[in-house]
Amino acid sequence: KQRLAVFASGTGSNFVAIADAIDQGRLDAEIVLLVCDNSEAKVIGKARDRQIPVFVFQAKNYPSKVDYERDILQELNHCQAEWLILAGYMRLVGDTLLDPFEGRIVNIHPSLLPAFPGKDAIGQALSAGVKVTGVTVHFVDEGMDTGTIIDQEVIRIQPEDDQDTLQANIQEIEHRLFPKTIQALIQTEKREEIKS
Ligand code: GAR
Repeated sequence: KQRLAVFASGTGSNFVAIADAIDQGRLDAEIVLLVCDNSEAKVIGKARDRQIPVFVFQAKNYPSKVDYERDILQELNHCQAEWLILAGYMRLVGDTLLDPFEGRIVNIHPSLLPAFPGKDAIGQALSAGVKVTGVTVHFVDEGMDTGTIIDQEVIRIQPEDDQDTLQANIQEIEHRLFPKTIQALIQTEKREEIKS
């Protein structure tokens, strides 16, 4: 089983979707750690309910990103995490984590990248008046939502859509696409190991 560390800052509906996919045998992995940068985040309770270890940090208590990411790295090494899964983690990842986990950090973003990177991608799409948007799963690099795209799914924006309805529709896609894409990545890697 591949060992996942999930990074999240908020509600954690994607965290739950991944945990459910594991429980239901659709994703051959285990979540060994939740990393969270917000002590108020709802995702923390969701991890505790499932007896998943949680590392919470407050960036403002550290002099720099390098310092808090060193603490995160120590936790990741301690629980032998193999993949970093960013599920609503609202921070850029720095070299301290990018170097040791190159090609093994995956993010989900609620738009068809490269359109609407950064915060409130759903609001950005509505303001722009585009008629389609979607979800992107991509590898993480040092940029903001710029890494290699792994998979995308499209959704039409209906005239009556607002922030809430579009977000609900996007999240429905996310909860299906993210576990499926992670499983595909893990499988591909296994096949490559067997070949080499
Ligand atoms: C998700 O919709 C995810 O795509 C988005 O945050 C939400 C977290 O929801 N991520 C970004 O915007 C990253 N730039 P959740 O906490 O319910 O999983």
